[in-house]
Amino acid sequence: MSANYALQMMDIEKSFNGIPVLKKAHFSIGRGEVHALCGGNGAGKSTLMKILTGVYTKDAGIIQIDNQTIDINNDQNARKHGIAMIFQEFSLIPTLTVAQNIFLAREPRKANGLIDDKECVRATVEILKKLNVDIDPNATVDSLGVGYWQMIEIAKALSKDAKILIMDEPTASLSESETESLFKLVNQLKAEGISIVYISHRMAEIFEICDRLTVLKDGKTILTDACRNLTMEQVIESMMGEEAGKSFKWVERNYIRSEVPVLKVTHLAYEARVKDVSFQIYPGEIVGLAGLMGSGRTEIMKCIFGIERPTSGEIVMNGKAIKTTADAVSHGIALVPEDRRKQGLVLDHTVRENMMLPSLKFLTRRLFVKDKQGTVITQTYIEKLNIKTDNVSKIVKLLSGGNQQKIVLAKWLARNPKVLLLDEPTIGVDIAAKSEIVDIIRAMAGEGMAILVISSELEELLAVSDRILVLYNGVITKELDRREVGSEEVLHHAIQGF
Ligand SMILES: Nc1ncnc2c1ncn2[C@@H]1O[C@H](COP(=O)(O)OP(=O)(O)OP(=O)(O)O)[C@@H](O)[C@H]1O
Ligand SMILES: [Mg+2]
Repeated sequence: MSANYALQMMDIEKSFNGIPVLKKAHFSIGRGEVHALCGGNGAGKSTLMKILTGVYTKDAGIIQIDNQTIDINNDQNARKHGIAMIFQEFSLIPTLTVAQNIFLAREPRKANGLIDDKECVRATVEILKKLNVDIDPNATVDSLGVGYWQMIEIAKALSKDAKILIMDEPTASLSESETESLFKLVNQLKAEGISIVYISHRMAEIFEICDRLTVLKDGKTILTDACRNLTMEQVIESMMGEEAGKSFKWVERNYIRSEVPVLKVTHLAYEARVKDVSFQIYPGEIVGLAGLMGSGRTEIMKCIFGIERPTSGEIVMNGKAIKTTADAVSHGIALVPEDRRKQGLVLDHTVRENMMLPSLKFLTRRLFVKDKQGTVITQTYIEKLNIKTDNVSKIVKLLSGGNQQKIVLAKWLARNPKVLLLDEPTIGVDIAAKSEIVDIIRAMAGEGMAILVISSELEELLAVSDRILVLYNGVITKELDRREVGSEEVLHHAIQGF
């Protein structure tokens, strides 16, 4: 073995309740290396890294930092060895300021023992400056966009003198420009000799930013090599096996637009973010909403579902005005939100309960699902979306990140609404599941469901949509028939406006 590794993990084993999750997995990273950790949902990526940060204890195996075998039992221990992780689920407290979050539980103190707020802000300014990010240290976190959250998490990790930084799906909620700043930052950290473990399901990003990659499958390391020695196809095949061929492609659907739209949005405006948007969706149609983050996509969906109150304009479904979420639900509209794990799951309940649980209380009485039927539906979706769970009674918070995402999505698909609003339906799910989800969306439209989809992944939007609305700064600037959009490039130009 080379002597230059900053970190080596060898023969790592871990079981939960007797079920092995890691089976002699190994992983190593050099100083100043960016190393991708890949694998399908539930492969064991987060678990392996949580062992490194002291969240879980390994059952067997060896961990070495700078060729010294070490034990990591808790968070302080990991920090002492220079290991920090940015979790899939953010760990910031929204009501505290940026500076307070960065120094949470490690606040600098004055001689009299009180928290030294000034020093806290000063140190924060220094770290942020080093990172080249322009954030007010006194702003509360909830006043900042998710893109900034990622930067604050990184600042927090670096303030702890991290030498090995683990990023678990850092770009899942970032826009293109935010992703670019993150990549700049990654390169800067790399130049300083910091090692970065990069967990992601986005192959293109991995090949752009990483030096080497390791693939985990069912808890085993099955591939480690320099990215330049590999093709994307090879990596996908090693992760997914026979499923690899199923990349999503657009196939023209046999779809005849009916005369009457099911949903009409007229002159919709919401604060400064949506300005005079009008469009209609017909039964059985899939409409894609394209546009940069902040272009107003999510706000439009929230207005339709009654979560946000439009400043002006009208939303009409089958001739009836939709004003509240209760209206939306009773008329058969469903929304699968972007931050699903926060809004769509009861983490302490089982898979089956979550699948069957209508997310709104007032639906409970109306939607009574029989026990047996419930289990059958749950099982069907577990198979369809390849949800990795020991059984339907597993507590949802014990599932991997991507599998949690699949459950919320499955829950709403099973609900069979008339209008389905999907905000980034495939965030966090692996490549095999992505193409399954695209297939399911198309099949449901085939049965008459009208679907509005937001996706930042153009390839996916092109694969699924019949029609694409391009939003720019709260205005629809283009409407494209899918048959007329040849390639991702065309759509890209449409979105960029040139
Ligand atoms: N605390 C726990 N108790 C029981 N099972 C667990 C626990 N933590 C993880 N698991 C199981 O271990 C397996 C691996 O999960 P892990 O979160 O490491 O996957 P992952 O590779 O990060 O997947 P994803 O891409 O979906 O985030 C999953 O089947 C998960 O259900
Ligand atoms: Mg994970």
